[in-house]
Amino acid sequence: MNSIKYVTLTETFIFNYMLSLFSKTPTWHKITDAPLSLDWQSNNMCIVEVADKKITLGKFQDQIFAFAQKCPHASGIMADGFIDAAGMVVCPLHRYRFSLQNGRNTTGEGYYLKTYPTQMREDGLYVAI
Ligand code: FES
Repeated sequence: MNSIKYVTLTETFIFNYMLSLFSKTPTWHKITDAPLSLDWQSNNMCIVEVADKKITLGKFQDQIFAFAQKCPHASGIMADGFIDAAGMVVCPLHRYRFSLQNGRNTTGEGYYLKTYPTQMREDGLYVAI
């Protein structure tokens, strides 16, 4: 009985340890004091570098969203695409669409675009990476 309990505790420890390796707590990074002064393209997107990583920012309905620079399908540059009327970012290469809210691929191909939380604070725009 004790050995079963021991195995269960060991498995739990290993599981939690493995989980901690893969679940890094995101850190908030300030992008700018003045979000409107960023180098926005006419398609309401721009690329910024945060924590040695290039990401895309997209404006939609007075909100700023952050997501991966490259498409998860075949590495299309997301900032070269567009944001449609429903708030989906559309990849320029094969036109797969992704939710700005959660990165879900809304055209059904089964991909996820990595998204990052954003916050507008009194002192500027922050992204959690
Ligand atoms: S590379 Fe983005 S849809 Fe194919």
